[in-house]
Parts: sequence; C-alpha cells; structure tokens
Amino acid sequence: MTITYLEQEQIFHLQSKEMSYILQINNGYPLHVYWGKKLRNEGNLNNLLHYPDFASIDRFPQEYPQYGTGDFRNPAYQVRLEDGSRITELVYQSHKITEGKPQLPGLPAVYVESEKESQTLEIELVDNYSGLIVRLSYTVFEDHNAISRSVQFENRGSQSISLERALSASVDFIDSDYEMVYLSGGWARETHVKRRTLETGLTTIESRRGASSPQFNPFMALSRPNADEDQGEVFGFSLVYSGSFVAEAEVDYLNSTRVSIGINPFDFGWLLEPGESFQTPEAIMVYSSEGLGGMSRTYHRLYRTRLCRGIHRDQERPILVNNWEATYFDFNAEKIESIAKSGAELGIELFVLDDGWFGKRNDDTTSLGDWVEDVNKLPEGLTKLAERVNALGLLFGLWFEPEMVSPDSDLYRKHPDWCIHVEGRRRTEARTQLILDLSRQEVCDYLYESISKIFVNVSISYVKWDMNRNMTEIGSAMRSSVRQKETAHRYMLGLYGLLEKLTQQFPHILFESCASGGGRFDPGMLYYMPQTWTSDNTDAIERLKIQYGTSMVYPVSTIGAHVSDVPNHQMGRITSLVTRGDVAMSGNFGYEMDLTKFSEEEKVIVKQQVAQYKKIRSLVQQGDLYRLKSPFEGNNTSWMFVSEDKSEALVYYFQVLAEPNAPLKKLKLKGLNPKLDYTIDEEEETSGGDRLMQSGVHIPSLHGDFISKCYHLKAKM
Ligand code: DGJ
Repeated sequence: MTITYLEQEQIFHLQSKEMSYILQINNGYPLHVYWGKKLRNEGNLNNLLHYPDFASIDRFPQEYPQYGTGDFRNPAYQVRLEDGSRITELVYQSHKITEGKPQLPGLPAVYVESEKESQTLEIELVDNYSGLIVRLSYTVFEDHNAISRSVQFENRGSQSISLERALSASVDFIDSDYEMVYLSGGWARETHVKRRTLETGLTTIESRRGASSPQFNPFMALSRPNADEDQGEVFGFSLVYSGSFVAEAEVDYLNSTRVSIGINPFDFGWLLEPGESFQTPEAIMVYSSEGLGGMSRTYHRLYRTRLCRGIHRDQERPILVNNWEATYFDFNAEKIESIAKSGAELGIELFVLDDGWFGKRNDDTTSLGDWVEDVNKLPEGLTKLAERVNALGLLFGLWFEPEMVSPDSDLYRKHPDWCIHVEGRRRTEARTQLILDLSRQEVCDYLYESISKIFVNVSISYVKWDMNRNMTEIGSAMRSSVRQKETAHRYMLGLYGLLEKLTQQFPHILFESCASGGGRFDPGMLYYMPQTWTSDNTDAIERLKIQYGTSMVYPVSTIGAHVSDVPNHQMGRITSLVTRGDVAMSGNFGYEMDLTKFSEEEKVIVKQQVAQYKKIRSLVQQGDLYRLKSPFEGNNTSWMFVSEDKSEALVYYFQVLAEPNAPLKKLKLKGLNPKLDYTIDEEEETSGGDRLMQSGVHIPSLHGDFISKCYHLKAKM
C-alpha cells in the first residue's frame, strides 16, 4: 500500500492490496483519472489524461466538482458568498501525505490501530476570490480494497460564506455501463436489495427524515451489468453518517456517470464566519472484482474491525432474551424475573428489560424523558431487579429512548422549548412523542446526567438505544435565524458527542442501536454501538430478505436477530421453532418472547439452539459471509459462514414454500479451501472443498413450508 506522487505530472496514485485510485492536478484543477483493479506504478503513470483542451470543463472527470464555471452536472458542493454570488473556483494549493489516518473531530469514522495500516493524502484547494479553503482527504488501507474520503471547508477570507451543499465524495466514471444496487424498504421491511440499470439523467436515493432511515440505507453501489454475487466489478459507496443523506448517480449527455454521496443538501445550510471550518462525514468507497459478495466482505472486515470499537468489538456477543414481544408494557418485577429465570435454565446469558420501566409508561403516550423507574411496576427499583437477574446468572440490560420526550412528561412540562420545533407552529407528534433538541448542549448534558446516574447505580451490562420517530418542524429555539438550517446536522453532532461520552465513560456496557428496528442501521451508529436491532419484523421468512439485504454492507456481528412467538406478531405467520432459530442464529442471536410459556418439547429445542449458538457464534460473528441464494430471486435462500483459515464453515439453507415433485438440488458452496477435505455434520465421510464448491452439496427434498437446513463443515487437517 502506498500513495505515490509524481511531482512533474502532479499525479497521485493511491494503491491498496488489489486496488488503484489515481487523480491528477491539471492546470491547477484536480481531475479524476482511474479507480479500479490495481495498476503498476513504474513506467505506467505517463499519458494518463487524454482530455482535449480545457475549454469545456463539463467533459472532464472531476475529483470534487464545483458549480458555476462550466460543469453543468450536479456539483459536490455549493456556497453563497456575502455579495450574493455562488461561484467558486478551486485550484490546487498544496498537499501532504501522512502515515495512518487522522480522526474526524466530532464524527464517527473508520480508524487504524497502527500507522502502518494506512496512508492519507490531503489536497488543499483554494478559491482565491473568497478565501475558501477545501481540503480533500483520502485514506487507503493496507488490508482492505477501500478508500475513505471526506472534505473539510475553511473560511480564510474576510467575509462570511454559506455552505449550501457539502458532499463527502464524488467520483466521475467515464462510462455509464453500470447497474445501481441499493437498499430500500420501510418499517418492518428494511434493506430490500434493489438493482436497476442506469439511464441518462439523475438517479437519487436519499433521506430527508433526520435519520438515515429504512426507506433508503446510506449506501449505493455501481455494478457492471455482468457482475453478480461472485464476479465482476462493483464500486461501493457507504456513508458513515446517521442523519439525512443523499446518494446520486448522474449519467450525462456524454454517458459519463457521476456518483456522489454525503449529507443531504435538502434543508441543509452552514454558515462559515471568517476562521470557521466545517467537516463533512466520511464516505467509504470499496472496489471489488469479485462481485457484490467481494464488496460485502470488504465492508464487513473493515467495519467489524476498524469502525466498531470497544471491548465488545472482538468478543462473542451474549445470547439475550428481551421482554418486548413477551409483555409489551404490561409487566411487573415478578413477571420479569420469571422470564429471566426461564432464560437462565435454557442457557441464555443476558436479560433485556425493554420499554415501560420508567415514569408512568403503561403505553406509548407518556413519560419519555423521565428516566426514573416506575415503582408501581418495580417496587424495589431497578438496582434490586438487576441484582436479582444477576443472581440468576444473567447479565442485565435496559432499554432507553433518550432522544425523545413525551408531551406528557415532567421533562416537557419543565422545558417545553427543549424539543425540536419552530416557534408559533404546531409540534407534530409521532407515536405521541417529540424529539429533544440535541443540537443544544444543555439537553445533551441533561441526558448524560440522567442516563449515567442509572448506569452508575444499576448493574447494567447492555443498553438498547431506541429512536422511534423522524424529524418534523426542524428548528432550534437557541439558534439565530441564519443558522436554523444547521439544526439537523448539529443534532447529529450532539448525539455523537453524547454517545462518545457515554461509551467512553462506561466501556463495559454493550450498546445496541435501534430505531423502530432498522430505521438507523448505518455505519455512523456502529462506531458507537457495535450492534443494531435489524428490524421490528421478527418473522423468520421476512427476516431472510431483511438480513440478506443488511449483509450487503454490514457485518453479521452487527445484525441483531431474535426468535419470537408464533403466530408472528407482525406477520401472523406460523413457522417452526427450528426455522426461527436458524434464521436468528444467522445473526446476533437472542429470543424475544415469553420463555415461561415453552412446552417441555420446545424447551429441549431451545436448549439445543442456545448450546449450538455458543459453539458457532465466533464463526457466525467473526467469519466471512458468503451469500449462496438470494431470497429476492426465488423460493430458496442460503448463506454460509467460513472461518478465516477456512477450516470450518456453517451453511444455512431455507425453503419458503414446499415444492411438488421437486427436481434434484445441489447447492454450490463458496469460500472453502479447494485443497482441503471437509466432514459434514461430523459424518465419517469427507468431501473435497473443490467438489463442494464446483459440484455442490446435495439438498434433500424438503417437506413442508418454511423449512431450514443447516450443515456444519470441518476440515480434516
Ligand atoms: C421499537 C423497537 O424497535 C422495539 O424493539 C421496542 O423496543 C419498542 N420500540 C419499544 O417501544
């Protein structure tokens, strides 16, 4: 891995293990030259730019396109100067290449543990007229075919500058022979994989909700039309941010494609007074010549090991039971203890007390903000309850929804201006709640105080951090009129600051993020909380799609997956306990049901599941994921987990509906060592890794709907 600079030609060549990214300063302008499979350095970096004269900037691939000087595509940034003009012209001023990767102040970001893991190029551009400085930052990683990009704006002029658009990255591809892959959905059907051919014009995915959202995940990939799960070129873009975002692919009249990603400029603005600066979030761009599967595995390794942090990052995650679908708001201490006791008998390791333990919260209309236990439900308090749960041999976890306030709460009665709102206008409620204005320091301080008090007094090992509505009437009582458009991003900075403080102060607590399920499943949250509740939809069959889609970008260790009751509460579907278990064991495993109601027969199955997951969880959580069959393409779904040394693998196969007179079926495995022989489910006979991958493993005819099968492979060493 190196960053090479050819001074004469002003060429920068960024190389990682199997990837090159090249840019060149041409007449002072940073132009994009190449991104793809690794190129040699020596003797290879001459005659790179074949662009005609410089008359029409519209024809050239740009590194960070500006507005107003002849490029008519969407720019990466836009400003308004005090004189009302909107033009800037950025030219190269200097650059520096450093070892390692600097952190982004106040923002989540991929990190390195040693300077040897990466190099960073920072190019400083200047608009001489306004004094605007723009620093483009690129980090390449030794072990990952990935580049992180971000941008810093600084006002070195004497007048104020309004930022109206400030994206994190933009890449100009010289052709448009791509399909766009992205993840979309809604509540209870998050991260469905979509693929469409690019056509002339602009294709946009975005969130305007103040959260990354289940409607579109902050991720987009360009895939060559012939690329599939296993082969072909794919270019991934993932934004390390949890607020409103945009990702665009613009095909112009010359059939070139501009991809850009960053904070959504819709309703965004940032005032830079002289001397002030603004830092964008970072985008992680991944190159794969091994299709979508290769792209996903790069994201998985990078995010699992260099985005997630803390002591839990590399630890096996505890099997939990959560009382939400077991009791909803209707519980008392005895009921909670009885579920925890059943959990202990079954081998479960963590009990999570969900919504309803505080204030007067017997339904979702009240008490958010009043983080004091409800003594009607828990007469001896949280501390005692946690002790009792601990005494049963389980860790204790607790649900919070800190960013919210119920109008019916002591907090709101005391501080009605602490929510996001516009003075004189209606405050639109969703789930009977408003959003606290985390762009204000005193609000974050209140939350830190009230939450950390509980963390200190109660033996808490896990926190589920929920967030159940989107932003409306975005405005902040404290901010001047010219800075109102900063509110949504300042909220994110406030949230990140609060999470940083809490996670640093209480490093032993395992945080799981949640937003009505996967409403904020994004890399930004994973920096603070190494796992996320993937969806409120716990139906095993719906989960096939949701978990498959989520795995496009996010490592399995981050994907919360629980067995719940039947008929399923969201879908009304009845699936077997075995199938529910196999789907949930393909993620970060747990139960979300009343364990006291299991029959003796069910208890036997659950004990087996719990014991099985304890054996396989390091493989599932830390291994490499290979997707074998897509739930979006047929009746069967399959995926497998392979250990890093390829000595062990676990294959799951799911049949949605029974097939009459089904043909013979063989499932071709992936990621094994072709030279090794593997036993399957500890049978005597072995099969070669080459055979299992080329010819496949025989799948017997499966009788019935919603069936799953699991194969455990071990290499004979
Ligand atoms: C939404 C979450 O996704 C659920 O799991 C549960 O915690 C509820 N909120 C509680 O209100």
